[in-house]
Amino acid sequence: MATTSKGFLEKAREEIYKITGIHLADNKDSLILNRIEKLARELKISDYDEILKEVSLGKYRQEFINAFTTNKTDFFREPFHFTDMMDRVLPRLCREKNSIKIYCSASSTGEEPYSIAATLLHAKEVYRCDGVPASIIATDIDTNVLDFAQKGQYKVDTLLNKLPTWLELDRYFEMKPLEGEKSREIQMNAKACLKSLISFKTMNLFSEKYPFARNEFDVIFCRNVLIYFKVEDQKKVLERLFSHLKVGGTLYLGHSENILTLQGRVDRLGQNIFVKNRD
Ligand SMILES: C[S@@+](CC[C@H](N)C(=O)[O-])C[C@H]1O[C@@H](n2cnc3c(N)ncnc32)[C@H](O)[C@@H]1O
Repeated sequence: MATTSKGFLEKAREEIYKITGIHLADNKDSLILNRIEKLARELKISDYDEILKEVSLGKYRQEFINAFTTNKTDFFREPFHFTDMMDRVLPRLCREKNSIKIYCSASSTGEEPYSIAATLLHAKEVYRCDGVPASIIATDIDTNVLDFAQKGQYKVDTLLNKLPTWLELDRYFEMKPLEGEKSREIQMNAKACLKSLISFKTMNLFSEKYPFARNEFDVIFCRNVLIYFKVEDQKKVLERLFSHLKVGGTLYLGHSENILTLQGRVDRLGQNIFVKNRD
């Protein structure tokens, strides 16, 4: 049975905040203990205080980060963002014939960027702009989920993750029903045409600077990650992301996230869809 010093929870809370910006409030003590317990098993270190000490000295830092992220995601989660991209954003971008650049800022295990990529390929065909160069940058702070995402192989429970019917998914994924009791499960493997559109990279949204050019992106997805940050940090992250979005570009936020200080610089289209109207 592991023992912890007095103040351990406070120190753990502080360390995770300092590194990632993730704010674990006082009612998250059992989450902190569960995550540390799992990490201790992984590292084969039974003294939780020792783990914190090592992390503060720079060792096991990535393992510590990976242990504290929450990675829940789905294909075509909050589906109206993908239909908005298909019906409103991509027709214009296809018409303009410049390159299309999309940033997915907390991509987790990859379902979100692959959904974006499938939408993009479908749009290129429908709007006949196959020759327009397009790319998606997908980042996350958690290296485990990025490794998983790069493989692009998923078991999907189609009852829990409703898949869209407005595009032919089997053109972009190898889709195979899985045998056995849970026949509602399918294997979905991203095809090369999807994979080649996406660059997966490690990035911390809590960093002061992001490695992108000013006004670089046509579209930014920042969904279901701000909720883990304090409001003052949400504002800073949003300001930084916004500086990399083109005027006229679209920002998608998760359903319980807020545009905060950007309010006067965006047009609100509803459903947490925002169009940048000035820098
Ligand atoms: C709940 S998932 C959301 C995934 C996806 N955006 C969606 O809406 O389905 C949150 C993701 O944010 C990532 N994350 C948490 N803190 C981060 C940070 N400081 N920088 C970058 N990513 C972070 C986590 O690793 C996790 O994969």
